[in-house]
Amino acid sequence: MEFAYPKGHVFYRKLNRIYPLVTHGEGIYLYDEKGKRYIDGSGGALVVNIGHGQKEILQSMIEQMGQVGYVHGTQFTTHSIEEYAEALGSILPKGLEKIYFLSGGSESVEAAIKFARQYFLDSGHAQRWRVVARWHSYHGNTLGALSLTGRIGMRKPYLPLLNDFPHFSPPYCYRCPYNLSYPQCELECAKALEYLIQMEGVETISAVILEPVGGATIGALVPPEGYLKLIREICNRFEILLIDDEVMTGMGRTGRWFAIEHWNVSPDIMILGKGMSGGYFPISAMITRRELVDRLKERTGGFVHGHTFSHHPVACAVGLAVLRYIQEKRLIEKCPSKGDYLLKRLQELERFPFVGNVRGKGLMTAIEFVKDQKTKEPFPRTDRFTEKVIDKAFENGLVLYPGTGFVDGVNGDMAMVGPPLIIEETQIDEIIEILKKTFKQISDFGIEI
Ligand SMILES: Cc1ncc(COP(=O)(O)O)c(C=O)c1O
Repeated sequence: MEFAYPKGHVFYRKLNRIYPLVTHGEGIYLYDEKGKRYIDGSGGALVVNIGHGQKEILQSMIEQMGQVGYVHGTQFTTHSIEEYAEALGSILPKGLEKIYFLSGGSESVEAAIKFARQYFLDSGHAQRWRVVARWHSYHGNTLGALSLTGRIGMRKPYLPLLNDFPHFSPPYCYRCPYNLSYPQCELECAKALEYLIQMEGVETISAVILEPVGGATIGALVPPEGYLKLIREICNRFEILLIDDEVMTGMGRTGRWFAIEHWNVSPDIMILGKGMSGGYFPISAMITRRELVDRLKERTGGFVHGHTFSHHPVACAVGLAVLRYIQEKRLIEKCPSKGDYLLKRLQELERFPFVGNVRGKGLMTAIEFVKDQKTKEPFPRTDRFTEKVIDKAFENGLVLYPGTGFVDGVNGDMAMVGPPLIIEETQIDEIIEILKKTFKQISDFGIEI
């Protein structure tokens, strides 16, 4: 039987794809019903942080479901909610304390937009509701989150529905938007935020949101030293909240619990998702400072917000089990050296003429493809280069995560490599072998390696 649109009743995410049916997963591997094995080289969309089939997680789910499967977040709390909040609270960056549990990254971004708005409303600044974001960012697909997401192709069909949120350029040093190079640039791309705020009117702005390491749209974009610190200073100067979107980077992906810790910057709001449960159950969080929540309590009496599945007891039980797993297996401590090894091995691929830039931090990496290595000219989108790479790698048993359009809104090709944090060096070698085979197959250039 074939699983593809329009057969059956599933409205698949891709309407032109034949879907393999996965029967089980184990560690970094997935297996389909035909017995084919795939390396989950991107952990889905950099979600599967502790690998597939971990029995401890299943056990935590069963135990919580056996106690109570659901209570409403306005009526009850449970041991799982309290214990998870305690455990997560103990590893948060200094100053962040209060955790609002939700189901997905976009949902938590929505909550952050509304929380920032309500904070200023309750502080007597009713005009401050707009959030500044960056181009080529990814913050989710619900309408508020999409208004922030700087991915042109995804925004275009829905432009009439989006909010008027301003954007500025990311620190994309490989293609500097100001044609400068670090450090002589003096972080012009961060200073641009100050100008943007002044032009838009500081009295209208509540927050700035960014991914500390750019993810799903631009591919493992690591900011230069000093960048995040300068953004923080600009936010302070204008008394604007800094929202740190760690949906992809959080929970150890880059070698620290939270990527922003690499640069010693402390945000006002942090958003987590994906790696919190490693994919075993939908859970995310909007986390903030106590003094900000206090303001809501004093004025309105609470956060005017809510979802049926927020503060979910089973989700929290899973989150807690995943957090303990990460701690017990010392996955974060081991991540930097595994990440360095992965990056070093990926750099071998720069011998292929279409590999323009290999970048990343920890086990969050990406390969940017170009038509011309010297001029950095991107492939025309009509070539669908990323799709060719992704499909061929998939055929060869390696799952990667694609991104396109980040050069000029249309062109730009990349594939993310972000395997589960449990990966071993020999398994990284397996990934590299498949990538080499794949690149050879799609190469018109016959490069010998
Ligand atoms: C940084 C970031 N924020 C938000 C989201 C949206 O999360 P979700 O897809 O769970 O709604 C994502 C998803 O990729 C993300 O990477």
